[in-house]
Amino acid sequence: MCGIFAYLNYNVGRERRYILEVLLNGLRRLEYRGYDSSGIAIDSDMSSVMQSKSKPYDTAPPVVFRQEGKIESLVTSVYSEVDKLDLDLEKPFLVHAGIAHTRWATHGVPAPRNSHPQSSGEFDEFLVVHNGIITNYEVLKQTLVRHGFTFESDTDTEVIPKLAKFVFDKASDGEGGVTFSQVVMEVMRQLEGAYALIFKSPHYPNELIACKRGSTLLLGVNELGGETSRHLFHDVKALTANDKPKELFFSSDLCAIVEHTKNYAAVEDDEIVHIKDGSVSILKFDYEKEKPASVQRALSVLEMEVEQIKKGDFDHFMKKEIHEQPDSLTTSMRGRLKDGVVGLGGLKDHMRTIRRSRRIIFIGCGTSYHAALAARPIMEELTDIPVTMEIASDMLDRKALIFKEDTAVFVSQSGETADTLLALEYALQHGALCVGVTNTVGSTLARKTHCGVHINAGCEIGVASTKAYTCQIVVMVMMALAIGSDKMSTLAKREAIIAGLTKLPEKVHDVLKLDGEMKALAQSLIDEQSLLMFGRGNNYATALEGALKVKEVALMHSEGMLAGEMKHGPLALVDEYLPIIVIATRDDSFSKQQSVIQQLHARKGRLIVMCSEGDASLVCPDGRSRVIEVPRIVDCLQSIINIIPMQLLAYHLTVLRGYNVDQPRNLAKSVTTQ
Ligand code: F6R
Repeated sequence: MCGIFAYLNYNVGRERRYILEVLLNGLRRLEYRGYDSSGIAIDSDMSSVMQSKSKPYDTAPPVVFRQEGKIESLVTSVYSEVDKLDLDLEKPFLVHAGIAHTRWATHGVPAPRNSHPQSSGEFDEFLVVHNGIITNYEVLKQTLVRHGFTFESDTDTEVIPKLAKFVFDKASDGEGGVTFSQVVMEVMRQLEGAYALIFKSPHYPNELIACKRGSTLLLGVNELGGETSRHLFHDVKALTANDKPKELFFSSDLCAIVEHTKNYAAVEDDEIVHIKDGSVSILKFDYEKEKPASVQRALSVLEMEVEQIKKGDFDHFMKKEIHEQPDSLTTSMRGRLKDGVVGLGGLKDHMRTIRRSRRIIFIGCGTSYHAALAARPIMEELTDIPVTMEIASDMLDRKALIFKEDTAVFVSQSGETADTLLALEYALQHGALCVGVTNTVGSTLARKTHCGVHINAGCEIGVASTKAYTCQIVVMVMMALAIGSDKMSTLAKREAIIAGLTKLPEKVHDVLKLDGEMKALAQSLIDEQSLLMFGRGNNYATALEGALKVKEVALMHSEGMLAGEMKHGPLALVDEYLPIIVIATRDDSFSKQQSVIQQLHARKGRLIVMCSEGDASLVCPDGRSRVIEVPRIVDCLQSIINIIPMQLLAYHLTVLRGYNVDQPRNLAKSVTTQ
């Protein structure tokens, strides 16, 4: 996955230094999406850059910077290049269009030549930043090579600017006469795959074009000093020098827009957004039709505060997000629990269908799958509907059976995970009712499902999911309460859960006090090669998720296991050296976990036992094991409490082992490739 960003200021003077900072800061916000290389393209001015007489346009050429490594490497290289090129940082631009990209490599190693913006070739006639994958790039490349194009990168993206130049040259015969949107439309006609693209071209100075199919793209609109227009019209007249100054942004994520404006619109699939003379046109692309239709789009108001995208007093986003959980859970529940009744507006029109469904299928990947697994027992208990679990990629590999009587619940923090979205397409084709559970308003998952619930965890920037996990569980527990609210037999249980939900933020606040204890535990495990976690019932998911956190950020082998399976193989691993965390908090499985602990003790296992407050001597009568005591809550919410010490453990292990906790090796926040 990559992050794309663009900034266009219209009729408001901005110094080059300011423009650079907006673009670089946009990339800093998006860095979590990919962090192996990055780049930007800005305008030069005729006086500052040596002009080539032979360049095929009259305007100043763009200046492109590309760099391998983290955004801060790009920042250093940009400022040193700016110096070398003698670009005046204080030079004001009344209008300026800049584009930027941060990359997570899919095609080609991280290297400047594979970084974006990718170029059409000499003179950078077309520059493109891309998030997604072009699946037919090889065919396009062969065609372009036959037409004399040479390729410098190993990326799939490079075909796009080259195709744009090919279309431009062909249509205009080098004489102009073709609009930027006509060029982009023709390019779109040829592309297969998933993409969000932003184009910049010196043939069309002060214009930007963005389009998308699959990948998310957002447009931010900031009318400085004036009333914000609530609608974008395709025929907004071009702003004149007397009009209010304006700033426009494109971004893969709202995180990069929120510090500039709260007014945004989500670009839909097959739309082309053309910014020209300060006006915004949205065109709907259609393969069948020669001419695109104009689209009118209402602006939404972003409900996010700038603080959410900053680390505040914390050293890392992961730590901040772990500690935010009392608040994020409160926000997740806000307005949804009234007088002992759960109201989920996003589901109410489909409640009858859900209640009548033959089964509920939970579908997701990684942490989101684990959240669904944690909610499964209560969903079955309260609804009396069988719940099956599917890892999205496996569901597709097996072409799993799915029927129109099924309710398929798709869980995804980003709402953009390719495997999950493909599974969604599959379920839609088979006629199932598709429900989304996501943190990302306007995401593909939110738009393509029939109905759903936003988890409202707030922007999650650390690559390892923490607060989204606990909010996903809470939302699915609320879903279980809402679906099962017509059953008298479970009234007492539902009341207990609702009482638990109201106490949950406070209990989470209490369990966070284990921070120091978890740091000490991490210190004792710092040199280990491997760590096992055993859980069952409501806490099987906790074992899987705890182990995933440790392996993905601390880069330590860690396995979550179903405790009931221990004696069927894993027991062979047990000795006095291998650390094993056993989750044995109070619920129906408690006595079984006590017996697991005894069996492990009998094999001299090195145990760390998580138990409910006051149970230390019960789970560890001889005082030989390390014990983590956590607050007790109703069984279906206990997994929320129990994961928090594991998140803290993973965090401290990572920091103590000297790894990057917010940007783990080889990972990206959302995986938009299969
Ligand atoms: C782990 C993690 C991943 C994601 C997975 C699905 O901390 O974040 O396992 O959970 O890639 O992502 P979403 O939830 O965005 O679909």
